Amino acid sequence: MDFTTKFAGHVARVERGIERLLPPADATPGRLHEAMRYSMQAGGKRLRPVLVLATAELFDPEGRSDPLPAAVAVECIHTYSLIHDDLPCMDNDDLRRGRATCHKAFDEATALLAGDALLTHAFALLSTAYAPDPRLAVALCGQLAEAAGTGHLIGGQMLDLLYEKKPGVTAEILDQIHARKTAGMIRAPLVMGGLIGGAPPPAIDTLHAAGRHLGLAFQIVDDILDATGDATTLGKTPGKDARAGKATYVSLHGLEAARRAAGEQSAAALRALQALPGDTAFLTALVKSLDTRKA
Ligand code: IPE
Ligand code: IPE
Ligand code: MG
Ligand code: MG
Ligand code: MG
Repeated sequence: MDFTTKFAGHVARVERGIERLLPPADATPGRLHEAMRYSMQAGGKRLRPVLVLATAELFDPEGRSDPLPAAVAVECIHTYSLIHDDLPCMDNDDLRRGRATCHKAFDEATALLAGDALLTHAFALLSTAYAPDPRLAVALCGQLAEAAGTGHLIGGQMLDLLYEKKPGVTAEILDQIHARKTAGMIRAPLVMGGLIGGAPPPAIDTLHAAGRHLGLAFQIVDDILDATGDATTLGKTPGKDARAGKATYVSLHGLEAARRAAGEQSAAALRALQALPGDTAFLTALVKSLDTRKA
């Protein structure tokens, strides 16, 4: 099966999982559940949940353990982080995944609560779906909490804001911001997929390394696309980083160096993946596709 067909198959499975595993839109309070679904069912690349599915399949091709609840949990955290990232007190964005941001379509309080609810729902999903294997459930909750917490996503978002319009941002500081706000949530799905698939400890270490490189490449490309992309293709407003005075790879190093660095991080992720057992063709093609993505 070619890469595009396989990717589409994974995405379709994720969409079905989201439909099934989120609270119904008409459950009270309906407005809250509508807002959660509005942002979750708005498209998006589904990169993180696809990484869970693909990595689980790499180590468990027969699918003995179901990775779908973990994939949806990861997408819940990611989508919550986007809803909050777009709020006026953060990046103040009107457009996300090709539609009005959650706080524009609903209101700020509802967007805040929808994000809170998705964050909580992620851990409810993991703890119930994997309860028959308590060690796995705890390990998955731990991985996701680590990626979403102050050490990564939230800490990175704080640094991102603290360094807005600040002179003297160094390459090291910027790498810290990228590693925290983005790479943690790219690494976690690889590791979680490995845990579900029963990957041995050395392979888990390899997934950690590959995920960090892939996450850094991903945010560098996000910075490039903000500087060069258009709203229709991106599904979000370009040019916002420069207007907000964000520390980005492009603002610090320039476009050409950013492209080079993204290529280097992507190549490092590919080298790490080569150390994994099994058929890594899909993951390899996925990493390559992200280096040249337009959205
Ligand atoms: C956007 O992530 C936020 C970053 C970490 C750069 P994505 O580019 O994966 O957004 P969606 O999920 O496709 O909307
Ligand atoms: C990543 O940074 C955001 C999160 C970690 C949620 P950005 O602020 O650059 O993401 P976009 O460009 O708004 O998607
Ligand atoms: Mg941001
Ligand atoms: Mg933003
Ligand atoms: Mg961005």
